[in-house]
Amino acid sequence: MPKLWLAANWKMHKTVSEGQAFVARLVEQIPGLIKPGAGEIRVLIFPGFVSLQSVAAAARDTTIRIGAQDCYFEAHGAFTGEVSLPQIKDGGGSAVLIGHSERRHVLGEDNLLVAAKLKATVNAGVLALLCVGELAEERDAGNAFSVVDEQLETALANRSGITERTLAVAYEPVWAIGTGRNATIPDVEEMALYIREKLLEYVDEEHGREVSILYGGSVKPGNLAAYMGIPDITGALVGGASLDADSFAALYREMEGP
Ligand code: PGA
Repeated sequence: MPKLWLAANWKMHKTVSEGQAFVARLVEQIPGLIKPGAGEIRVLIFPGFVSLQSVAAAARDTTIRIGAQDCYFEAHGAFTGEVSLPQIKDGGGSAVLIGHSERRHVLGEDNLLVAAKLKATVNAGVLALLCVGELAEERDAGNAFSVVDEQLETALANRSGITERTLAVAYEPVWAIGTGRNATIPDVEEMALYIREKLLEYVDEEHGREVSILYGGSVKPGNLAAYMGIPDITGALVGGASLDADSFAALYREMEGP
């Protein structure tokens, strides 16, 4: 059975103390997360930068991994407001969300900037969780696959160092994020298969086959199991339903299965 990913994207939510309290409550609910950890499910939490280090400290005795929601591609220098990979690693982060739809569509990141961030992340030995997905109008116009293809092709143009240990992909249709409007199972299945084909082409046969593909977009307790039934989907990236520890614990149990 493949290892599964359950990832929490807290976006611009939670203070330091709220983040610490979340970890304490989650571990209370799921004691199997205490090291060495019993389960097949890898939990990954993406807090805001300010609480990354304190949440990582709160999770020290657990198997929970902490990641950043973004990074800059330079290691240091005059880049006011940006956060580098050495800073993220030093704070206890071992993963980064790359190209989340809010970075692309609210903050204006393009495919080339996403590619530079992905390359820097892989070179730093940090897991890059590359987010791809189309807008509603792109899907309606029949362009969902070409949009995702361009996102993948540009991001993976420099494939050196890319393996299943440095890359995972999250398919997050933009219109399904935070809207309560879920992508259908057949649509996600078709896109996951397409992403797998592209990974075989852009990474290589050996590693492309092993890279995890997650689904994200209005995942909540009750709808996760259906996505996990899709052959190429081995995890979920969760926003809204990850903010409450009990709801996140319910997702963990749903992923574990009966
Ligand atoms: P959502 O967010 O679960 O609230 O739709 C997912 C995400 O943005 O990663």
